[in-house]
Amino acid sequence: MDKYPKSEEPTETVGGSEGQACTAIAHEFSNLEFIVQDFQPVVNQGKSRVPADVAGRITFMAHDFLTQQPVRNADVYLLRQILHNWSTDLTMKVLQNSHERGLDDWKNLFKTADPRFNFQEAKQPAGSTLWIMTVQWEGQWLVRFGC
Ligand SMILES: C[S@@+](CC[C@H](N)C(=O)[O-])C[C@H]1O[C@@H](n2cnc3c(N)ncnc32)[C@H](O)[C@@H]1O
Repeated sequence: MDKYPKSEEPTETVGGSEGQACTAIAHEFSNLEFIVQDFQPVVNQGKSRVPADVAGRITFMAHDFLTQQPVRNADVYLLRQILHNWSTDLTMKVLQNSHERGLDDWKNLFKTADPRFNFQEAKQPAGSTLWIMTVQWEGQWLVRFGC
């Protein structure tokens, strides 16, 4: 996230649960704002639990990520731990056979979803079990995926 200085558009967290990941990032980067999307009951819980010191920078939105994304022009779309074990068809629908994917699988997935996804890099931060993949949408916004 430190590569992305403050801009006018927020970070979008799809399937963001109660906003735990955004809360952690918000505590590290006081210049970032967030929209957390999940099912209505989940975002209701998130709203009631978000820490006061970051509540002004985190908003919650009920959204089924299998339907069209209503938020346009966010700087970053964070899809963390929501794609890794979904069926190919459903993952394609979010961007698809229930298996963990290797790097080449991910690259092929994005290219198959739409050739305008330009896979840039994959990094595993030291000490993390997760990877960060940076994928450039050769249009209007940058997409950042955690898996
Ligand atoms: C494994 S959790 C990951 C949560 C969060 N992204 C994280 O990394 O901490 C998956 C989340 O996706 C949400 N989810 C599952 N299907 C969804 C859908 N169709 N639309 C929106 N959210 C969904 C679940 O409610 C859950 O909060």
